[in-house]
Formats: sequence, structure tokens, C-alpha cells
Amino acid sequence: MRYTDKVAIITGAGSGIGRGIAEFLAEEGAFVLLNDVRAEAAESSKKILAEKGHRSETAIADIGTWEGAQFMVSEAVRHGGRLDLLVNCAARQIIKPVEDLEIEEWDTVLNVNLKGAFVCSKAAFPFLAQQRGAIVNICSVHAQATVSGFASYAASKAGIVAFTRAVAIEFASKGVRVNAVSPGTIDTPLVQAYFESCPDPVRARSEFLKFHPLGRFGSPRDIAEMVAFLGCPQAGFITGTEIVVDGGMTALLFAQ
Ligand SMILES: NC(=O)c1ccc[n+]([C@@H]2O[C@H](COP(=O)([O-])OP(=O)(O)OC[C@H]3O[C@@H](n4cnc5c(N)ncnc54)[C@H](O)[C@@H]3O)[C@@H](O)[C@H]2O)c1
Repeated sequence: MRYTDKVAIITGAGSGIGRGIAEFLAEEGAFVLLNDVRAEAAESSKKILAEKGHRSETAIADIGTWEGAQFMVSEAVRHGGRLDLLVNCAARQIIKPVEDLEIEEWDTVLNVNLKGAFVCSKAAFPFLAQQRGAIVNICSVHAQATVSGFASYAASKAGIVAFTRAVAIEFASKGVRVNAVSPGTIDTPLVQAYFESCPDPVRARSEFLKFHPLGRFGSPRDIAEMVAFLGCPQAGFITGTEIVVDGGMTALLFAQ
């Protein structure tokens, strides 16, 4: 158990990858603070953890705001007494061509995905510095290459990769490591919503699978394993980097 007596915050822990990370860190002994903007989602993650015998608390807050980030961090310290790991996982995705994308929609995506990583890291840093803790930012393969309709999402994710490098350099003097994990296709409500938006969702899924050399989509657990590693002392010389966890998708030139 790598996280016994340690405290971790996971933003967007009410669904998909965030929930999977919270479950895995709790299995590894962490006390987890489950953040989400949707109270019902966070409570349902808390219930799942409780059923497995894990202690957790929720902090319902919009992490795209400084107030929300401060509240979330103060709740983690109030309940857990310390802070060892921040996982910036919450995100919004609005799929529209730039021509149709409203200004407010661009702001929404950038506020949650990019500003959120900034304000949460800023709020958490003083407490992480006390433990020589770590931050893991969940980015995306869209930071490197993308498709039509993803301009705001791709820009936000490329921004977090750059932010990861920049803040890793600043926080290094206090022993706080900062890394990025870029998932490929992970079967979560976010991806299910994308397939549902396609004219033929079943066909879209099987066509998409051809771009995955390992022959499957990822699971939240695949991402949680990497997050848990990056947050623990075995990764003590790794900071400012992006690790892609995508089943080989971005290594592939074209599907055969
Ligand atoms: N699923 C994938 O294939 C995939 C691929 C690459 C990257 N990612 C990234 O992984 C992360 C998790 O994705 P997911 O698929 O689990 O998504 P998801 O939509 O299932 O979960 C995201 C969670 O974030 C919460 N959230 C949204 N806005 C928030 C806010 N302002 N404050 C607090 N919480 C908020 C949502 O309520 C939701 O519970 C995201 O950063 C996403 O960009 C996912």
C-alpha cells in the first residue's frame, strides 16, 4: 500500500477517470477528497468507496474558480490534516467547429480545463510543499494531434502540458513534482457521449477501435496506475514530463 496515511485530492472524481483514480488511490491506502461540480456524482463515488471500506469526503466546487479551488483544498486539509497529492482531472469538452463555437463555450472549456489546473495547483502548493508532495495533471493526446471540432479542448490540453513543465520548474525547489498523464481513448461517459453524437454510434466505436494497436480502449484503471506511480516516491526523479497512456494510438501512422 503506497498511500497509507496520505491525502489526495481528485478533481472531477464524480465520474469516469477521476472516479477510477479515487478508487485506486483509496485501495492503496489514501484518504481521498472527491471534488466534483455535480454533488450527486461526487456522493455516488463516495458511496462506491464506502462500500469497499474506504474513507473519503466530498468537496462540491467549480474548480474553474479561485474560490472553488481554495474551498476544495481547505476541505482536504480539514478532513485529512495534510495534502500529498493533487490530481487535476476535471474537464469539459464541447465538440463544435470554430465557426459555430460560441465565445462563452470557448471560455467554459478553457476555464475548467486550463485555469482549473492553475488555480487548484496554486491553492494546493503551500500544503504540498509541507509534504514534498506531487501534482498530476490529466491532459490528453489531443494536446499533440487532434480532429475537427476539438479546437477549444485541444488548446486547453496543450496548455496544461506547457503549464505542467513551467510549474514543475517553479515548484521543484520545494520538492513538489508536477507531471502530466495524457490518456488516449478511455471508456468513460465523456467518450460514450462522443460516440452517441455520431450518426452510427456502434459503427463509430468499431471504426475507432482500429486506431488502437492493443485492440481495446483504455479503462480508468489504466490511467490510475500511472497516476499512482507518478505520485509516489518511486517516481522521485520524474518531474515536468508528459506520459502518454494510449494503447499505441499515437504511435500508429494509419490503420491497416
Ligand atoms: N475519456 C477519455 O477518453 C479521455 C481521453 C483523454 C483525456 N481525458 C481526460 O481525462 C479527464 C477525465 O475524463 P472523463 O472521461 O473521466 O470525463 P467525465 O466527463 O466522465 O468526467 C469529468 C468529471 O469532471 C466534472 N467536472 C466538470 N466540470 C467541473 C468543474 N468546473 N468543477 C469540478 N468538476 C467538474 C464532471 O462533473 C465530471 O464528473 C479529463 O481531464 C479528460 O479531458 C479523457
